Amino acid sequence: MLFASLAVGIVAILFFVWRHRANTSRKLNFRPHSPAVVAGVVPLLGNITALTNAKKSILEYQQKFGTTFTIYVLKRWITVVCDPRHVKKIYRMPDDKVTSWPALATLFDISVRYGWKSGRFSIAPIVSALMTPSILRSQIDRINNRLHNQVQALFSGNDTVTVDFFKSISTIVTNMNILAFTTEEVFDACGTEIAESFYAVMNASKKPAPKDMVKMIFGMKLDRHYAFDRAVKKLDKFVQNEPRNDGAFSHIIEQARIELQKPENQDVDNATELVLHYIINFLQAAHINTLQTICYLLLEYSELDTQSEAYKQMSQEIDSISELSYDSVLDLLCVESSIVETIRKYKRSVVKGLRYAESDVPIGEHVIPKGNVIVLVPNGSENVFTQQATFKPERFVDEKVEFDKYLFTPFGRGRHSCAGERYAFLLVKTIVVKMIKECKIEVETKGYQNVLNEKQLFNLLNPLAPVMVKLKSLY
Ligand code: HEM
Repeated sequence: MLFASLAVGIVAILFFVWRHRANTSRKLNFRPHSPAVVAGVVPLLGNITALTNAKKSILEYQQKFGTTFTIYVLKRWITVVCDPRHVKKIYRMPDDKVTSWPALATLFDISVRYGWKSGRFSIAPIVSALMTPSILRSQIDRINNRLHNQVQALFSGNDTVTVDFFKSISTIVTNMNILAFTTEEVFDACGTEIAESFYAVMNASKKPAPKDMVKMIFGMKLDRHYAFDRAVKKLDKFVQNEPRNDGAFSHIIEQARIELQKPENQDVDNATELVLHYIINFLQAAHINTLQTICYLLLEYSELDTQSEAYKQMSQEIDSISELSYDSVLDLLCVESSIVETIRKYKRSVVKGLRYAESDVPIGEHVIPKGNVIVLVPNGSENVFTQQATFKPERFVDEKVEFDKYLFTPFGRGRHSCAGERYAFLLVKTIVVKMIKECKIEVETKGYQNVLNEKQLFNLLNPLAPVMVKLKSLY
């Protein structure tokens, strides 16, 4: 009996391994020059160990397989491209070859209910259409009108207060409702649910280490579906009775309806879910990067030597502004270069760009098969600048630095570069200037720069522990 069960077990394992190998080779070897495959240490799951320290794994695999290779992880086919010439070529490819949004959706399964793939519904064109001067002006006015009260709420009547900086700024940015572009009405009625479902989606894909894998795959999926359902219920009446006088929200609803009328989207029948999906993707694209840029820039500014060039230039610009407005922040060139410098200093994560192969993508002597996620990790991008640990915005003001625009990509490149770049500059400039005028910031957690998540795959590096700051009211 024992022998029979053992034999059945072994046959089953051999069958799975055989199926896995067959799939692997079918997917990758149908062309003579397909990339090398790092198929995996655990059949079916693939090479999940590559996720524990992606930076190290990518270096190792490069040495073993060359500058283009494919990893198979949890049913995802990920081709890593490290040769800068190929990276540039991919950035410049048109949409019938590579797209952007489906890459994220495939990697993290950021799909909403009923099996939709969010990749089908990119927020990018909607964001681009919303970047009109009148909408941007209204957003800047909104910050201007609300930030003071938000900061004062942190002090709750005291002159000084010590706070977890990233958390506090996140709350302020969320409460001002400047990233989701939803109406007051919608925001008051279901802003919390929208924010919760956003965080549930983000948390579900935040920590790719194996010990969190089970939670990532199963636990958070349930949480985010629950949060998503709640938000849909709340949002529904606003979509059904479209609110007036709000260009942005009406525009999102209109786009959702247009999408749903297309023959290829007949399987999707709920406009509210699509609207929520757009809003969540909006937050995803906008919130984290913007928030972290604001925080790191304020921390850097508060620690600058008052005699340094950077401090003098920034302070001079900030002091020269008496009235904050869309027009007055447009020309803050020193603050602008300190934004780029902040992103340079803190965006040390390994993945510089993500694309999805919409058709077979020929790259050098390889062909990346249709359906693979393409991860761009250009060799040498980390060496573009000298004195990397120093915060030196002058390097951009002086325009002395010459660098390859495809190696340093703070907002991405090509047709899928950041759709909100212009808004991001306005937003960060306005909040930073206003915060500096509102309060004096003293960093309590000294050396926070040394405890950032160096293993992070995307975006600016997260601090691994709260960064505490003392705020002194200047009012
Ligand atoms: C400092 C803040 C920000 C940074 C550093 C940043 C950076 C980026 C980067 C690196 C990408 C990927 C580009 C690529 O793959 O080539 C991206 C995409 C995107 N960003 Fe931003 N972003 C910021 C703020 C914003 C804001 C405020 C919005 C919206 C209002 C926004 C909307 C988007 C969208 C929609 C995409 C997707 C573009 C596409 O798929 O075609 N971003 N961003």
